Amino acid sequence: MGLLDGKVALVTGGGSGIGRVTAEVFAREGAHVAVADWNEASAQETVASIEAEGFEALSIAADVSDEDSVRQMVDAVVDRFGALHCASNNAALGGGFHATHELDRERWDRCLAVSLTGVWLCLKYEVPAMLDAGGGSIVNISSVSGIRGQVTQAAYAASKGGVIALTKTAAAEYATRGIRVNSVAPGGIETPGMASYLEAFPEIRESTEAVHAMRRFGRPDEIADAVTYLCSDRSSFVTGQILGVEGGIQVNAHDA
Ligand SMILES: NC(=O)c1ccc[n+]([C@@H]2O[C@H](COP(=O)([O-])OP(=O)(O)OC[C@H]3O[C@@H](n4cnc5c(N)ncnc54)[C@H](O)[C@@H]3O)[C@@H](O)[C@H]2O)c1
Repeated sequence: MGLLDGKVALVTGGGSGIGRVTAEVFAREGAHVAVADWNEASAQETVASIEAEGFEALSIAADVSDEDSVRQMVDAVVDRFGALHCASNNAALGGGFHATHELDRERWDRCLAVSLTGVWLCLKYEVPAMLDAGGGSIVNISSVSGIRGQVTQAAYAASKGGVIALTKTAAAEYATRGIRVNSVAPGGIETPGMASYLEAFPEIRESTEAVHAMRRFGRPDEIADAVTYLCSDRSSFVTGQILGVEGGIQVNAHDA
């Protein structure tokens, strides 16, 4: 018995990193999985890796910052699998690394459009599909940056703070209608996204590890397992929660 047997699950930003591994874990736990990414080839690679394990999945080219694209994404899932029960709204874009006063408007707008408006658009179209299905569970991926703020990442941190507020609001709105809405707030996780950051700023690897009480980065599967729990019926009385999966960043007495 898998944790998600018989459920239909969507992962945005499923072509890389946390989203890819989440889609793979969903499939192993019995879900029919739709993998959405604006990089279509990367979504297809994730689907190929799921199919190589003997499971079925659907790849969808979708830009979460574009309303038509999000509507078509949810329609494509329902057309193919007949319903939508679970979603991990995971796609996001950084805003670069700039002091707040040096950040330009274009980067701010782009980051917020994908990382905050994109999550709202996903909720807007996932919720009706889940109401039709008789209920569901949504997990928005935020970040510790959205709780604590993050130096040189004003747009990204603000977008993730917004995701947390959006999660709590939607959780309250749909709690009596069978839809749970939670968020996972990762710490530093070894993904292609993080790798390009560390390539640009190799000197910060050690200090970033040290921010975590566990003194290490997390792995994508450690996030995927938390998302899977929140999507599954094992968390049936959990809604509106922000689950930090962050190696103890928020309790780190030695945080520099
Ligand atoms: N890696 C970390 O340390 C870390 C820490 C905290 C939070 N997070 C969050 O976890 C999530 C996944 O991060 P990751 O490190 O795996 O990222 P990643 O960069 O490895 O993958 C992100 C994926 O999202 C896709 N994407 C970007 N914009 C999109 C759009 N507009 N529409 C559709 N797809 C889009 C990309 O093509 C890519 O496949 C993000 O929400 C990120 O903010 C990551």
